[in-house]
Amino acid sequence: MKIDLITIFPGMLDGPFRESMIKRAVDRGLVEINLVDLRSYTRDRHRQVDDTPYGGGCGMILKPEPLFDAVEDLKSKSDCEYPWVILLTPQGRRFDQQEARNLSGKKHLILICGRYEGVDERARLGLVDEEISIGDFVLTGGELAAAVVVDAVVRLLPGFISEEAAANESFSDSLLEHPHYTRPPVYRGMEVPPVLLSGNHAEIERWRRQQSVKRTYERRPDLLKKADLLPDDKSYLKDILKQQE
Ligand code: ADE
Repeated sequence: MKIDLITIFPGMLDGPFRESMIKRAVDRGLVEINLVDLRSYTRDRHRQVDDTPYGGGCGMILKPEPLFDAVEDLKSKSDCEYPWVILLTPQGRRFDQQEARNLSGKKHLILICGRYEGVDERARLGLVDEEISIGDFVLTGGELAAAVVVDAVVRLLPGFISEEAAANESFSDSLLEHPHYTRPPVYRGMEVPPVLLSGNHAEIERWRRQQSVKRTYERRPDLLKKADLLPDDKSYLKDILKQQE
């Protein structure tokens, strides 16, 4: 996979992709991540990427010309027939794990990090395939949102983590994860649940599944509607409800 990030603050995105597991994915050639400085696509003496809004108002708008030049240049150099262009904006569709899965199947992503009050509407209409928001809050720009999207997508690429781990994690079946413990067995008087030390794998799996169902019920009941619940899960849920009566 190739990911281009168009930004006026490449320094903001330097760190996240040069550390940890994402760096390993880059080093192993699973993904190529390019930071593209929008300013390098300006043609005027002042290298201007933004301007004041027509009609007045505060804030600055990203100009259309450098954005068109940047996206068209990146597309012309692409091996992929249809690079997928994403604009990060609070007005976009809410990002979630399903969307991360969809994007992880694409060969080439071009992410435009919006800034200031927004981007010129003609750039949005003429260049963008999809608008993504990472949540109902407003950041100073799309850079951190782009880092979130790239992180969630890259870790789903084949070979990044084992398929078993990917299948077991939170949200893969719309359930939250069970609690985790590691050594020591007792810490500040808090004990690891005995079942986890029992060596009985069937019992451990049962306990984990029940904890997942319980957590999802307590914290994100909205997710339960989407979850693929097994007959055992349903009877466990009924037990929880009965206990609360
Ligand atoms: N730019 C500013 N806020 C944003 C958000 N919540 N999601 C995506 N891009 C943004």
